[in-house]
Amino acid sequence: MALLDLIKQRKSVRDFRDAPVERDKIMMCLEAARQAPSASNSQPWRFIVVDDKELKDRLCDAAFGGLYFINSFCKTAPVMVAVISEKSKFLTRIGGMFRGTKYYLIDIGAACEHFVLEAEDLGLGTCWIGWFNEGGVKSVLNIPRDKKIDILIALGYYDREKLGPEHGREPLDTITSFNSY
Ligand SMILES: Cc1cc2nc3c(=O)[nH]c(=O)nc-3n(C[C@H](O)[C@H](O)[C@H](O)COP(=O)(O)O)c2cc1C
Repeated sequence: MALLDLIKQRKSVRDFRDAPVERDKIMMCLEAARQAPSASNSQPWRFIVVDDKELKDRLCDAAFGGLYFINSFCKTAPVMVAVISEKSKFLTRIGGMFRGTKYYLIDIGAACEHFVLEAEDLGLGTCWIGWFNEGGVKSVLNIPRDKKIDILIALGYYDREKLGPEHGREPLDTITSFNSY
């Protein structure tokens, strides 16, 4: 499939099929993420894949209780990925402070988008999850308290007919211009 068609086909999936995801497919998604560009090639990421059902259920209970219940649909996902934001290289961090830019977040975004597009290409659905109980995730996965988890990814097979309503996009001419603001 042409890349632009794949990009257009990817939609957030919030209802997954009760089917396991093959480890080799998960590895391909991780490999796609690994190839993402990053500021100064810092690669400030670490992926913790949770595909053990009992652990994944405990993770979802800890991540999506109380205030975060809106993302409880993740309980239907056979795989959850916790993306740990590691530190960029020292000079990149200094440069980021100088510029007021969180380069590591841009890097994480690129890696995660690579991950989800590879998943789509393999027939798998994903949903980026930014609203979750971070402390709960850390305690279930034994992640040190000083680490930062900015994003989770839900992953699994899905039925195209069960996708929710389309989330439209702003037209190109309202978000772009050539040669001047
Ligand atoms: C950084 C980020 C955080 C997100 N967090 C959530 C979330 O917590 N729960 C959720 O259901 N969707 C979440 N999403 C998915 C967006 O709602 C979705 O991408 C957007 O509405 C466009 O829809 P589409 O992905 O189907 O094209 C997140 C997406 C991004 C990029």
